[in-house]
Amino acid sequence: MCGIVGYLGSKEAYPILIKGLKRLEYRGYDSAGIALVNEKINLYKTKGKVSNLETFVESKNIAGTTGIAHTRWATHGEPNDVNAHPHFSDSKELAMIHNGIIENYDVLKEELMKVGVEFKSNTDTEVLIQLIEYIMKVEKVDLVNAVQLAISQVVGAYAIVVVSKKHPDMLIAARNGSPLVIGIGEDEFYLASDPSPIVEYTRNVVFVDDEEIAILKLGEELQIRTIKNQVKTPFVEQLELNLGDLEKSGFKHFMIKEIFEQPKSIRDSIRGRVNVGIDNISMAGIIDFKERFLQAKRIIFIAAGTSWHASLVGEYLFEELARIPVEVEYASEFRYRNPIINESDVVIAVSQSGETADTLAAIKLAKQKGALIYSICNVVGSSIARAADAGSYTHAGPEIGVASTKAFTSQVTVLVLMALLLGRKKGTISETRFQVLLNELNNIPSKVEQTLQLNDQIKEISKIFTYARNFLYLGRGFNFPVALEGALKLKEISYIHAEGYPAAEMKHGPIALIDKKMPVVVITPTSAIYNKVVSNIQEIKTRKGKVIAIVSKGDKLVSKLADYTFEIPETEEVLTPLLSVIPLQLLSYYIADMRDCEIDQPRNLAKSVTVE
Ligand code: F6R
Repeated sequence: MCGIVGYLGSKEAYPILIKGLKRLEYRGYDSAGIALVNEKINLYKTKGKVSNLETFVESKNIAGTTGIAHTRWATHGEPNDVNAHPHFSDSKELAMIHNGIIENYDVLKEELMKVGVEFKSNTDTEVLIQLIEYIMKVEKVDLVNAVQLAISQVVGAYAIVVVSKKHPDMLIAARNGSPLVIGIGEDEFYLASDPSPIVEYTRNVVFVDDEEIAILKLGEELQIRTIKNQVKTPFVEQLELNLGDLEKSGFKHFMIKEIFEQPKSIRDSIRGRVNVGIDNISMAGIIDFKERFLQAKRIIFIAAGTSWHASLVGEYLFEELARIPVEVEYASEFRYRNPIINESDVVIAVSQSGETADTLAAIKLAKQKGALIYSICNVVGSSIARAADAGSYTHAGPEIGVASTKAFTSQVTVLVLMALLLGRKKGTISETRFQVLLNELNNIPSKVEQTLQLNDQIKEISKIFTYARNFLYLGRGFNFPVALEGALKLKEISYIHAEGYPAAEMKHGPIALIDKKMPVVVITPTSAIYNKVVSNIQEIKTRKGKVIAIVSKGDKLVSKLADYTFEIPETEEVLTPLLSVIPLQLLSYYIADMRDCEIDQPRNLAKSVTVE
């Protein structure tokens, strides 16, 4: 949460910083601000989106070749102009941007107030920049040392960047728990929360690690030190990121672009892992820890939100195909309940961003207790991927819309591959079944393309439900997690209340909600329990609920009962979530669009949840 960006070089910093903020706006959009060093520090910040900041600075002095900028998702202090970042130190000689939470800010603030420091904002961030300045003054140390000393007193997560009026040729950054990447250009440096603001200027990047401080000075090599002043050699990596993936490319929103990208993103998740000629799956991370996986007494998935729903599909897949007992945990619950974990457990962390604070903390805890940690992340080089013992990237490409779409299907694709690979190695599926499923997985991208042809039909029907107050989503077996995902998509972008339920649980409570105003989305492609779901649909119709059904092509029974039916291509039951989720993504998108909602940046949300 919160996006930070910095520039140091000979170009004008403002356009680079603003463009960078727009790329990072998915991380938060409560307020935005910028500080440019030009004899003094010119600092401008305002409530709202980056576009508000652009309007705000229209007649201001925005010159300067060194600067920092921030887009905020508010934690401490309401989202207003004062609490927006950057924050000045008392003397206005220093300014800082921050992503994360300083947990002991109140203790530090109290001590600083006792010695006369006055605070302008309610933020934890201001406490840190004031502390840095105070240390410089009292301890008579330089800025780098002051940053080191200050952050050694801090409890919490941070990625910070500091500019100084006295050192316009320098930026100092530090990280603990929140992401930070440095781009190295020709006599210039870029800094950001993720590589998207950097990629068009340089592909040489250094991912800063926890408890590291980066000192960026014009005309000098990048220096990295630990908080304890140990010198580190920066590890320069090459970015593999396509600039086109960061643009809307003619689509109205990133979300709809990303929905339509799914044939490609699923193909990319399969690519390089399935050796079509010899019908084999190879996943280096699993091969490296083959024995741990094969002997695992239990697999525990740890995730949040949509990634949790993908993990739930993972539970059905791993139990069905690899016969390994699975538990699926919310990272936020797992980390605070003294879980029983041991060396025979394999923990799989699923995360699009690879930065979700709860998931990261949960895997660190499981690692301490001896479990093998495997990550399934989309963002390459992200904290969760780096903290894990091994892992697989989903290769879905950047997901910018706050509502996760292609990340879900690529996570499920990777989980299918893992379950098939393990099932084959354990002998829990026959060779024939393995080949049938692998073959069908290869057909999924083109079946997703066919499913996307429902677009116009779904758009039309969405009009009818634009004014609904509530929605119920029902599914069973492999499509129960899809029901949860469909409900989450609708509520987060359209603000319509929606609940996902296992279809048979309806009669234990939610059935009381059903009347003629209640739309019920029932996901019931061909499956072993199809007939049971048909009975559930009958129960809804008896109570006059409006049924929107997702069925397999050629379905006759449900089409007669349901008010609206969307047909998806026939596929193997274990792969149905990869198709059945598509109409639900489209339905929520069009309902939200017709309600004029801010689809790519829904209220109160942020893409990367780096706070607890
Ligand atoms: C929903 C959504 C969130 C995320 C959740 C986990 O559309 O995007 O629920 O799925 O915040 O994020 P990651 O996968 O980055 O750990």
